[in-house]
Amino acid sequence: MDRDRLLRELNEFLRIPSVSTLPAHDDDCRAAAEWVAAELRRLGCSEVEFLGSEKHPVVWGVGPNVPGAPTLLLYGHYDVQPPDPLHEWTTPPFEPAVRDGRLYARGAADDKGQVFCLLKAIAAGGPPPVNFRFLIEGEEEFGSKVLFDLLKREPQRTKADVALVADMSYVAPGWPAVYSTLRGLCYAEITVRTAKSDLHSGEYGGAAPNAHEELARLLVRLKGEDGRVNIPGFYGPVKRPTKAELAAWKKLPFKEKDFLAKRVQAKGLTGLKKYSVLERLWALPTFEIHGITGGFTGQGAKTVIPAEATAKVSLRLVPNQTLKKVQQQVAAAVKGFAPKHITATVKFLHGADPAQIKLDHPSFKLLDRAFRDVTGRGTVPARAGGSIPVVPALGAGGAPVILTGIGLPDDRLHAPDEKASTSFLVAADPGPAARGHVPIFLLALRNLLISCWDRPRPP
Ligand code: BES
Ligand code: MN
Ligand code: MN
Repeated sequence: MDRDRLLRELNEFLRIPSVSTLPAHDDDCRAAAEWVAAELRRLGCSEVEFLGSEKHPVVWGVGPNVPGAPTLLLYGHYDVQPPDPLHEWTTPPFEPAVRDGRLYARGAADDKGQVFCLLKAIAAGGPPPVNFRFLIEGEEEFGSKVLFDLLKREPQRTKADVALVADMSYVAPGWPAVYSTLRGLCYAEITVRTAKSDLHSGEYGGAAPNAHEELARLLVRLKGEDGRVNIPGFYGPVKRPTKAELAAWKKLPFKEKDFLAKRVQAKGLTGLKKYSVLERLWALPTFEIHGITGGFTGQGAKTVIPAEATAKVSLRLVPNQTLKKVQQQVAAAVKGFAPKHITATVKFLHGADPAQIKLDHPSFKLLDRAFRDVTGRGTVPARAGGSIPVVPALGAGGAPVILTGIGLPDDRLHAPDEKASTSFLVAADPGPAARGHVPIFLLALRNLLISCWDRPRPP
């Protein structure tokens, strides 16, 4: 298929504002699911179904039966994060635009662009001799509850020789990666209530408690200026990476100075300074405040003492921590740090356990060889700071989970001006021109699929 047509079709997919967390976009999520289902039918899938009844469906597909061939489970998501702040986009988030060889749109890299590439790579030149299973969900960006429940009820859906998750990135341009860990996540709202109602700040100021002030104090108790999370027991199970792993990270094309100047674009980095930046991003847990509401935030001025304030926060978890335990620790810490004159409550919205994957299955060698064939460089082992809630469950049936992808570290996932390189479109139309481009992943994927791993298959 030629590039213009690929771009046109991808744009169609990207124009659907499938924001899973905002109920106003429920119909759009459904439309994106329909788009995926239509593609799966075009690929010759014998079964294409919407699974999970509440909210946004999981799109399930079973590719044409190839007797004796291995089974590959492909995971991706068609939902995206909210696009705000809208005024910070150079062009609107759901009107895909190409500038300098980059395609700008919400979902270009996370994850619609990658799902698109997977499907087109399979279609190009006829599907490779592999038994495909597709699980393309629509709730990844808000906790994957539907898919979790589905896999609990029907664990046989994950029965495969290998599961491939294409929702990740290279570690740097030209450096394809495979990931051994994902951080988990504990998302919560902490609400402080100080009085029955808001109060005049002149009549009561100086003697009445202020919800925002109390919440601010509570938050700084939970995480100190030095970046340490002061939740009792929080770091207990955390293990440092091995010396060999730390040494390998030093050889990656990652410079802390460039990370600050080009990616973070701030005046300085924060966090636990005695650990390297990569260790802080990949191997240590975090606590972040996403937003604080309550009190007066309208135009102009109002003199009031707010009676209630809420912070949306999340903690990233690393291997050996568990969501359940961390939720208990957070609840206990909030209770412990709150002074007697306030009511502090915690509501947990969603979360995920961390994932750890051994990279010793033969399919990882194939992935490495496939990338080496087409890019000249094999996959470097890395860890991921982000989370994909369903990954531990995808591996529960025993299939190795390959975490890889074609994004780049500066794709600005979840942020204004999210982008992906348009060069990946070459890959669905392979030729010498594809060499040296990002989506070589697609060629790599095809090589991987075609080469069919050489190991005994379950009956
Ligand atoms: N694709 C990302 C996860 C990711 C990001 C992996 C960067 C590796 C590097 C995924 O779509 C994502 O954003 N997940 C959410 C999950 C959450 C909302 C439950 C995340 O990490 O915040
Ligand atoms: Mn994603
Ligand atoms: Mn995401």
